[in-house]
Amino acid sequence: PEYISVVNLATALRVHVDRLVTKMEELGFEDVQNYHILTSEDASLIAMEYNFQPLVEDEFARDLQALPEPEDKAHLPARPPIVTIMGHVDHGKTTLLDYLRKSAVVKSEFGGITQHIGAFSVPLPSGKTITFLDTPGHAAFLDMRQRGANVTDIVVLVVAADDSVKPQTIEAINHAQGAGVPMIVAINKMDKQGAAPEVVKRDLMANGVEVEDFGGDVQAIHVSGKTGQGMEDLEEAIVTLSEMLDHRADPQRQVEGWVIEAATKTSGKVATVLVRQGTLRIGDVLVAGQTWARVRSLKTDAGIVVESAGPGTPVEVGGWREQPEAGDEVIQASDEHKATSVVDYRIEKAERIKLAVDMEAINEARRAEA
Ligand code: GTP
Ligand code: MG
Repeated sequence: PEYISVVNLATALRVHVDRLVTKMEELGFEDVQNYHILTSEDASLIAMEYNFQPLVEDEFARDLQALPEPEDKAHLPARPPIVTIMGHVDHGKTTLLDYLRKSAVVKSEFGGITQHIGAFSVPLPSGKTITFLDTPGHAAFLDMRQRGANVTDIVVLVVAADDSVKPQTIEAINHAQGAGVPMIVAINKMDKQGAAPEVVKRDLMANGVEVEDFGGDVQAIHVSGKTGQGMEDLEEAIVTLSEMLDHRADPQRQVEGWVIEAATKTSGKVATVLVRQGTLRIGDVLVAGQTWARVRSLKTDAGIVVESAGPGTPVEVGGWREQPEAGDEVIQASDEHKATSVVDYRIEKAERIKLAVDMEAINEARRAEA
């Protein structure tokens, strides 16, 4: 059996310990003290008095589920590819992103924005768009992957031409290959003395990246985030790969997406949501993690107020009750009632998991004592 103290059970159930003791005495426990240790059977029995039911499969019906991917996407419209830039420290990830973002901002005539942004769209002269994710380290990327979804369609692996393949380059290769996400290599810092792209390609080959020049199918583009050299080629390579991968999504289904980042501003709690499918609109009801929103405002990364946002688009959503967390999955709910009941259910479920963990910890402490 597993054990928990009366005090810890009270904490887990979010009731005052005195009230719990009274309740337990009503249930027939005698001479209850705060430090008494209960078996998991007794604790579960008491927990049920507080409407904590044992988890059963059926209860998942109370939660919101992502819809299964449609089998045939051929008739659906194309969506922008979602691209993450990865690579070794100092190889120029931020510089490349800044360059792409700045030129995008200039192109859309909303200059002067250089604040950090978790996701942004780059409109191309062809009318196509690329969405870039600026993940804080690799953490969010990995976290989302662990939840069974690849947010990213394409990884741009940045390798400095004067430094070649380094430990985090290899880590990024492993992440991308492990997730089955195709790669494009950006051989950066080509403006520098000592740039040796051939060395980079050779080292990449040695680490399982089959670059084009060596007969493989991974494109390697020579760029400089400093001078802008090759940046259009990089954008073009992304578009070409994306067309080959044929990214499509249904703009008419239930809205689903991911929280890329969240913040509490003077105007309220906002979250950048990357829409995966469906079309997000003002007034929609969304659930993310343990909170929900009735969408009050939508803003693009360039600060433009919009009425809606379709698949592959990052958008800042206002109207959250609490601040959601980066990595939370966003799912549309039919109405506020559904949203609140889902959120209550998730909070309750988290409490129960915590209760089980508490019991396990006490159990372990006891085993250690014995
Ligand atoms: P971390 O975020 O620390 O992992 O680094 P990063 O990969 O984002 O690199 P960052 O963009 O900060 O660039 C590191 C240094 O390299 C900075 O001093 C940049 O100015 C410089 N740098 C980046 N790209 C280029 C380039 O194309 N040419 C030259 N000459 N310098 C560059
Ligand atoms: Mg950086």
